[in-house]
Amino acid sequence: MRQRRILLTSALPYANGSIHIGHLVEYIYTDIWARYLRMTGAEARYFCADDTHGTPIQIRAMKEGRSPEELIRHYHEEHQRDFRDFQIEFDCFHSTHSEENRRWSERIFAAAKEKGHIARRVVEQTYCAHDKMFLPDRFVRGNCPKCGAEDQYGDSCEACSATYTTTELVKPRCAVCGNPPERKSSEHLFFELQKLSAELHAWTKHPDHLQAEVANSVQPWIEGGLRDWDISRDGPYFGFPIPGEDNLYFYVWMDAPIGYIATTQRWCDENGRQVEEFWSDPETEIYHVIGKDIVYFHCLFWPAMLMDADLNLPTSVVVHGFLTVEGTKMSKSRGTLINARTYLDHLPPEYLRYYFATKLNGRVEDIDLSFEDFTNRVNSELVNKIANLASRSLSFVEKRLDGRLGHIPDDAGSLMAARRQALHKAQAAYERRDVAAAVDEAVTLAEQGNLYLQSRAPWEAMKSDPERARAICTAAANAMMTVGVIIRPVLPVLADRLAAMLQVSPFDWRAGEATLEDRAIGKFEHLAGRVQREQLDAIVEASRADEPDATPPLAGESYEVEELQPICEFTDFAKVDLRVARIVTAETVKKADKLLRLELCLGPLGRRNVFAGIRKAFPEPGALEGRHVVCVANLAPRKMRFGVSEGMVLAAGDGAGIHLLELDADARPGDRIS
Ligand code: MSP
Ligand code: ZN
Repeated sequence: MRQRRILLTSALPYANGSIHIGHLVEYIYTDIWARYLRMTGAEARYFCADDTHGTPIQIRAMKEGRSPEELIRHYHEEHQRDFRDFQIEFDCFHSTHSEENRRWSERIFAAAKEKGHIARRVVEQTYCAHDKMFLPDRFVRGNCPKCGAEDQYGDSCEACSATYTTTELVKPRCAVCGNPPERKSSEHLFFELQKLSAELHAWTKHPDHLQAEVANSVQPWIEGGLRDWDISRDGPYFGFPIPGEDNLYFYVWMDAPIGYIATTQRWCDENGRQVEEFWSDPETEIYHVIGKDIVYFHCLFWPAMLMDADLNLPTSVVVHGFLTVEGTKMSKSRGTLINARTYLDHLPPEYLRYYFATKLNGRVEDIDLSFEDFTNRVNSELVNKIANLASRSLSFVEKRLDGRLGHIPDDAGSLMAARRQALHKAQAAYERRDVAAAVDEAVTLAEQGNLYLQSRAPWEAMKSDPERARAICTAAANAMMTVGVIIRPVLPVLADRLAAMLQVSPFDWRAGEATLEDRAIGKFEHLAGRVQREQLDAIVEASRADEPDATPPLAGESYEVEELQPICEFTDFAKVDLRVARIVTAETVKKADKLLRLELCLGPLGRRNVFAGIRKAFPEPGALEGRHVVCVANLAPRKMRFGVSEGMVLAAGDGAGIHLLELDADARPGDRIS
């Protein structure tokens, strides 16, 4: 049988920020999977790169008075250090700002043009004459056209959540220099996605290509008609100039995924291989691991580009959910936006790798880092079960039995059967990317090993029959070897220390089935120590302290944001806490002609102050008092010009009319609505 050849990627991190533990979910997941595949004898290559182009990086560098090249160099080094220290091992970590990427971007663009899929159209955008550049929505600020809140982004208002276009913004200003921008037209290039609609539909329907929940979210986009995609930006722009065009550059999201190929190219050049072995050979498997926020780019734009270029399409795009910390979105002010380095300053990488592994089950649902769960999992599974089995078997042999294993005794039959079964089940789990289930097999087997030791009590046998004690420990050591093999993709350094003690090499998948008998073992070394809750508290404290600058988070760039329809899982929906509320007071708000201030009574949950954009529908606000409405009770409080809004009331309709969702008069304030 020919060796499986597999190319794996994680999404390319933006080159203007540090890696945080949210990112790490993805890099650790892909790394675990790549390591597993290599252990089975496959050629698995894990490629990644920094995503370096685009306006946010350009403006950030400008503000800091350095070149974008300098900025991305800084982060390239930092990212590589962080990944290395988290034991994430790429075959190549490159950059989209590279010659390989320029060549491939030009080539893929030429192919799309050749296929007749590139159109020209004039677009009007916001332009800053002072900075001589076009401004993405996020870089225009002004007053909200709906509620009047000051200093809002060009696409949406943080005070009243209204969305609009930069042209509607009142008193717009350039976020870089503060001058009022103008409107300016220019000709752009569009990728006519619609022309590949049938192909994309067929591709996304194939059950191997996408998880069912992802396919279900992508198909409505296709069925609703795909919009042409603007793949160009006007200069000055930090990116690659489009050949044959005057002052036009490839949009960052055009050249970013091409970075997957460019990185392959780089690695092939350095290792005497051909890029076609990966991107043209139909036998090669390609997996892109991504977060749920960038599905559109990877499941529509990217396959479309590959189709036009006659290159391999992904075997699967593997989507994972977002990391939350203690049940909520990571936040700087709560100290839960934890940088990779801050974590490493306090705890070993193994614990986080282990914890994420116990959660990564191949589904799209979000993953929560709960500090209590983290502490319990690490201490009760990794330390008390896995590390403990090693020390109880190997350390005993080293100290009391001259460091030599004997023969597996007859009474270990069921432990040996459990060992074979665990290995096979773990393999099946890894194959379907259910890392959590694989870890479970390791933990269960370790538990069985410990129970075996407990019931056979080698320390008792030692007194009368040391050879019997040796036999018992030999069985336990063999179970431990299998535990080590199963867990090795997750904890490579720890597993290699175990392999050194067992003197087994290579420590690959086959070692999980081998038998170790009648041989010497190496010096025992402790595998893992307990984690203290205080260490996590210290990480949160340190993360609150190292408050970085206020650059807006980059959800792609502004233009495509509205197209991204994140997947709402039931668990996401269930997070919304809806309650019965009685309106105690309703009054108008000075200088905000769309708003009413409501004082709500939520029964045992107390009173809430809520600003609602419903004034137009209720010219006599007093009439609302006493009504029972639906309130979102766990919405993060929102600071507005007039005060803090502590919730939201539900209403239907927008432009024409507003209709409050109302409950019977005898609904009890504070009762849960489900
Ligand atoms: N540069 C783009 C990807 C281009 S791929 C051709 C990008 N970069 S990113 O730095 O914002 O995110 C990198 C990856 O990390 C994405 O897959 C994203 O979904 C993932 N995550 C970012 N924050 C995350 C969490 N809080 N939780 C889990 N994954 C997260 O997007
Ligand atoms: Zn400006």
